[in-house]
Amino acid sequence: MSQNQPVRQNKFNNANVAGANGRALISTTRKHHGIIGKKAGRYINGSLPVLPFNDDEFELALCSHYLFLYSEHVTLNQHILSLKELCRVSKEVRIYPLLSIEDNEQSKHLNPVMTSLLSSGISTSLVSVEYEFQKGAKEMLVAKRV
Ligand SMILES: C[S@@+](CC[C@H](N)C(=O)[O-])C[C@H]1O[C@@H](n2cnc3c(N)ncnc32)[C@H](O)[C@@H]1O
Repeated sequence: MSQNQPVRQNKFNNANVAGANGRALISTTRKHHGIIGKKAGRYINGSLPVLPFNDDEFELALCSHYLFLYSEHVTLNQHILSLKELCRVSKEVRIYPLLSIEDNEQSKHLNPVMTSLLSSGISTSLVSVEYEFQKGAKEMLVAKRV
């Protein structure tokens, strides 16, 4: 190991983690988080639109880079059912990004989903975010039961 390489004490397993650059270091740390999280039972498999959780089990549900991003593969109905399910298990739901990966434009499902949810007693709003992971992706959808 070169003396110029960063060395960090990993607080989760006390192993020394060395990487030639930040990316390697972050990736190694994430792997350790995953292993520890699995052992602690923090990861539970589920597949939208059906989740293995009780009503109101969570205060906040986050869904990133799945709904809306894959609008050509996930149907409008699957989006609606998935949002309803997320709102069943959580008091608040946040989805990001809202652009389709195909053309980087706002998902064709966004407006129909918002209209449909409103008729099911779920209010939605578009909220600006500072994070712009995807070019032009400056908003998240926030959904809550009214
Ligand atoms: C592009 S990855 C995003 C992963 C992570 N959320 C992120 O932002 O880094 C898309 C994820 O959607 C998950 N996924 C695909 N179909 C799903 C479904 N029906 N219900 C829940 N998750 C699903 C995949 O397993 C995959 O982990």
